[in-house]
Amino acid sequence: MGGYCSVRAGLLCLSVAGLGLALSGCGGSSHSTTGTTQNGQQQSGQLPASADPSGQFQTFSTSGTVNFSNEFFQSLGSNGRKCVSCHLPGEGWSVSPPGIQARFNNTSGTDPIFTPNDGSTCPTDDVSTVAARQTAYSLLLNKGLIRIARPIPGGAEFTLTGASDPYNCSTSTAIAMFRRPLPATDLKFENTIMWDSREDLFAQTIFNDLKSQAKNATLGHAQSAAAPTDAQLTSIVNFELALFNAQTVDNAAGSLTDQGGRGGPQNLSQEPFTPGANSVFALGFGFNPDVFNLYIAWESLSGTDSVTQARLSIARGEKLFNTKLINIDSVRGFNDVLNQVIFPGTCSSCHSTPNVGNSSTNQSMNIGTADATRRTPDLPLYTLTCANNAGIFQIDDPGLALTTGKCADIAKFKVPVLRDLAPRAPYFHDGQAATLLDVVNFYNNRFQIGLTIQEKTDLVNFLNSL
Ligand code: HEC
Ligand code: HEC
Repeated sequence: MGGYCSVRAGLLCLSVAGLGLALSGCGGSSHSTTGTTQNGQQQSGQLPASADPSGQFQTFSTSGTVNFSNEFFQSLGSNGRKCVSCHLPGEGWSVSPPGIQARFNNTSGTDPIFTPNDGSTCPTDDVSTVAARQTAYSLLLNKGLIRIARPIPGGAEFTLTGASDPYNCSTSTAIAMFRRPLPATDLKFENTIMWDSREDLFAQTIFNDLKSQAKNATLGHAQSAAAPTDAQLTSIVNFELALFNAQTVDNAAGSLTDQGGRGGPQNLSQEPFTPGANSVFALGFGFNPDVFNLYIAWESLSGTDSVTQARLSIARGEKLFNTKLINIDSVRGFNDVLNQVIFPGTCSSCHSTPNVGNSSTNQSMNIGTADATRRTPDLPLYTLTCANNAGIFQIDDPGLALTTGKCADIAKFKVPVLRDLAPRAPYFHDGQAATLLDVVNFYNNRFQIGLTIQEKTDLVNFLNSL
């Protein structure tokens, strides 16, 4: 297991100190592609396991190697930022507060992720001392949030009529939102890119959406004066699209591929995907609410030992996800589209892509996560007033509405992929849910589901095993 440990150490130092150092200290630039399975088999294209709070996860690349000299790991701009600055293999290809805090402590807040253009609460923040940086980067350190500022599109149906901004950074024409980095993995199953779908180029493929995303990330996050070349963008997107990341080991249930379990990134990479294939919206094509079937084999296990009990809990959680009745009401982008005031659904009504959990159609929704009632004092609150008395909205993030300019799209977000969850807390667009139990409690309250404590535990154990 010597190779396993040194490569694992590589990933750990990678996640703390950045890539160049980590790789020179840990054995070369594209060696880290051979993992070891539970039974000791060598797996081509698989990174060694990394730890997360509920167990271990792994990355698998269908290209056969994870090439650490790809442009994804190169500084293409002016501020030292790389894609990997905010999308770390060791943090589920997103970033998480414990890792960000470690980076801050190891570099006194000078790692390139701590750049004021969008890492701080306002670009004009004082970042001249360690203490000042601690304050300026508070949202990044506490919740892993990056500042995304977008203009209100010309011809929008709404105007900005109020801003309660703790950072005094608002302008009348651009709205700053604080958002979680979505993982740069499991992208094969996407049909829309970014929380607010702003990289959906009309009639373009996801491949081209991702090229545009990588270009804008280089110009924006990395403050490059010029766009990367087409060859560089294609190389980044080929790299990302080959990556699959998923939980492989659960602290209580052990290997997620034992006894017929089908967790882990290799199984995930083999899931077929056709946009719209399973959707409550595309009734003509049919909809099967049994969206996840990874742990069906565990439903019938018997035994009183703790591993069996943990496996049974995960299997119960999967079943609850597919079958527990949720009376879905007042969700814009859902109830209005289906023209049903109350829709008797389940988690899988929205999270519909089989064994992946994003929406299998490009359908963004407002489930209430951006509402004033959910707002915490560390985030701005914006008031948008719609023309023709069409409503006043108080929200921390206008979501899709800044892409389309439509009032109907205010606070709509894409339904994100539910794989690779355990390594990348906190959750929702603004990191408002510190844990997966907080996510489950949100839904339990929002839709009055009436989950028992055991049902909540089972759902959380299931989500952690994805
Ligand atoms: C400063 C941090 C930062 C850097 C650097 C960065 N990203 Fe991101 N990335 C984010 C954030 C934040 C989001 C979500 C933004 C949103 O939805 O508005 C995101 C979203 C994405 C997504 C969307 C995934 C999805 O499910 O829609 C992809 C893909 C991605 N980034 C790839 C890249 C690539 C490629 C690079 C380098 C060219 C890069 N990122 C650089 C922070 C960063
Ligand atoms: C009416 C549609 C709908 C239903 C029902 C629904 N979700 Fe969601 N889910 C969403 C949307 C939209 C988001 C993104 C919201 C945001 O980030 O603000 C989301 C986000 C999430 C996230 C956060 C993922 C991340 O990357 O941060 C988790 C976890 C999740 N849902 C689990 C569940 C579970 C478990 C259930 C059932 C108890 C459920 N969802 C029911 C639409 C739905």
